[in-house]
Amino acid sequence: MSQLTQITSKLPKVGTTIFTVMSALASEKAAVNLGQGFPDFDCDPALIDAVSAAMKAGLNQYPPMTGVPALRTAIAEKIKALHGYQYDATTEITITAGATQGILTSLLCAVHAGDEVIVIEPAYDSYVPAIELAGGTPVFVQMQVDTQGYSVPWDKVAAAVTPKTRLIMVNTPHNPTGTIFQQADIDALANIVRGTEMLILADEVYEHMVYDGQQHLSLCRHPELAKRTFVNSSFGKTYHVTGWKVGFVAAPAALMAEFRKVHQFNVFTVNTPVQHGLAEYMKHQSAYIDLPRFYQRKRDLFQNGLKNTRFKLLPSEGTYFQCVDYSAISSLPEAEFAKWLTSEIGVAAIPVSAFYNTPRESGIVRFCFAKKDETLALALERLAKI
Ligand SMILES: Cc1ncc(COP(=O)(O)O)c(C=O)c1O
Repeated sequence: MSQLTQITSKLPKVGTTIFTVMSALASEKAAVNLGQGFPDFDCDPALIDAVSAAMKAGLNQYPPMTGVPALRTAIAEKIKALHGYQYDATTEITITAGATQGILTSLLCAVHAGDEVIVIEPAYDSYVPAIELAGGTPVFVQMQVDTQGYSVPWDKVAAAVTPKTRLIMVNTPHNPTGTIFQQADIDALANIVRGTEMLILADEVYEHMVYDGQQHLSLCRHPELAKRTFVNSSFGKTYHVTGWKVGFVAAPAALMAEFRKVHQFNVFTVNTPVQHGLAEYMKHQSAYIDLPRFYQRKRDLFQNGLKNTRFKLLPSEGTYFQCVDYSAISSLPEAEFAKWLTSEIGVAAIPVSAFYNTPRESGIVRFCFAKKDETLALALERLAKI
């Protein structure tokens, strides 16, 4: 390659991820794919109708930079009803091209070169590259895992704070572990940031997937945290339309003003008919209110089936993920075990080590249960043979 065509990578550590590898292997081996984190079933036809109606009504040109007002208003009303916090739909909510863009934009506007950002591992894979693109340095704190499952060691988070810490990233309900924040987690976080200038990025894309009668504790419920938090969410998860890539960020006006400066020159805005369709569809509150019941039934079906296997279940309190300990089956490293499971047993899973930046082996893989019952049944039949 000639000198002219070479560039210095801004993300030298980013290569082909295990997600790509596992998906390719799953299709090559015709494995049941419980690796990919998206549904294998379609969304409500009423949502398609609402988007089609918007297209047919000629709503096909640029919407406002911040998003369609009806959608921002519907989001503000929903947050107020569920969490009691009133965001101003005009100045405090912006529609994004999925949570991934919301996360990147939040970090680009808030993090300056040399700032430190605390990342709790295992962590969603976009966080670290986004911090690095913003010029920040990720500082890792690892969740602890024992027979009760995963939890955040808040004393270690507190110990990781330095004068350079600009932002703490949190994710509840949590991918990949399926844990959710309890009030004690929220209080511990509030204690850490109190009296500092630190900001928070809360990734709440699984906000409507919380089980066993528990409640999603959005960070906006806590007045002190709401003042310093970018809350990120995604319609893709809630409405079974991950491919539409539409989400939103809610944050206090001063933070949102800076967010919008970056958003404006990043995507400018997000596609119009889908926003109108979502605004219309959000009137069907049952779509998100019934979601925990819908997914809890799938989780229970999957968990009950796994009880007939040699996998050990970890708790899944939220999200559509189930982590399992395979130490009774194999001592292979996680990535090798996931490849073996895909090739030899015909069920694809994701190694939890893929969510760590530092090499770590816990003998745990993640399955996604956002699948048709027959998909889950076929996977369980195969897993029971191990
Ligand atoms: C924790 C987490 N955050 C963000 C995203 C990205 O959401 P979106 O597809 O809306 O960009 C995902 C998708 O899997 C996720 O699991």
